[in-house]
Amino acid sequence: TAARTLALIKPSVAANPHLVDTVRARVRAEGFAVKAERVVQWNLDDARRFYRQHEGRFFYKRLCGYMASGPFVAMILEKENAISDWRKLIGPTRSIAARLESGSLRGDMAVSDTRNAFHGSDSVNSAREEIEMFFPEESTAG
Ligand code: CMP
Repeated sequence: TAARTLALIKPSVAANPHLVDTVRARVRAEGFAVKAERVVQWNLDDARRFYRQHEGRFFYKRLCGYMASGPFVAMILEKENAISDWRKLIGPTRSIAARLESGSLRGDMAVSDTRNAFHGSDSVNSAREEIEMFFPEESTAG
């Protein structure tokens, strides 16, 4: 059965419309349906709230600065095993590891461990929460 995940195309990639088109084409080629899409611009407080579980980590400040540095793209992706398949397609968080996963989106587009170009929900619960956060009108509750 079809499942949903939240995908973010982070500011370093979203700044380049040609790269965003390349990602969209890849997403469709891998069998995902894009159920909703919007462009988001965060301020620092928005970023701090979304990444609050990383507060205190050495990369928290630069992560929040990165996510507030410009517009990014949020998408609801649907397919069987959407959560794990999207995370597999984007590849590992760390850029060196991502580069070793040939064909992974981060391997192609990440520029550092922080500026890692993509996000994917890590569980059914976080997918539900994150979809609700970016697309309240798409809530599947009820
Ligand atoms: P994401 O997995 O979407 O959410 C947490 C983010 O923190 C992650 O992407 C990276 O942008 C950043 N991050 C995670 N681990 C590190 C790290 N070791 N060094 C720098 N940034 C990191």
